[in-house]
Amino acid sequence: MKIDDLVRTANWKIEKHVPVIDCMEAVAADEVFEVKVAIGKEVAHPNTTEHHINWISLYFQPEGDKFPYQVGHYEFTAHGASVQGPNTGAVYAHHAMSTWIKINKPGTLFAISICNIHGLWQSSKEIKLK
Ligand SMILES: [Fe+2]
Repeated sequence: MKIDDLVRTANWKIEKHVPVIDCMEAVAADEVFEVKVAIGKEVAHPNTTEHHINWISLYFQPEGDKFPYQVGHYEFTAHGASVQGPNTGAVYAHHAMSTWIKINKPGTLFAISICNIHGLWQSSKEIKLK
């Protein structure tokens, strides 16, 4: 068994765990652009002490390159826990992130995320150069 056997994917319009990558389809080389990744874009995922998203990692695989690059890792560490108990805290980190990148080759962005009880989920988005 390999870890990729454990990383699930699905149609984000009906499955709440899929990380959805939102950015331009084509960018100019070396032009800084925004990349957003969110869980539950169409079907909301819970955000409670018992059930939440722990992190999203973003990777870029340049076309023709052998290995991917990690772009960033975004942890969501507040889920309503407090000294009074679960779901009594004042803050919940929402499972969405935004970052800015530039690329000089076309390629594919990959997002992988983990739900504390439903495991690893991934998606990808191809980016072309203008
Ligand atoms: Fe979940």
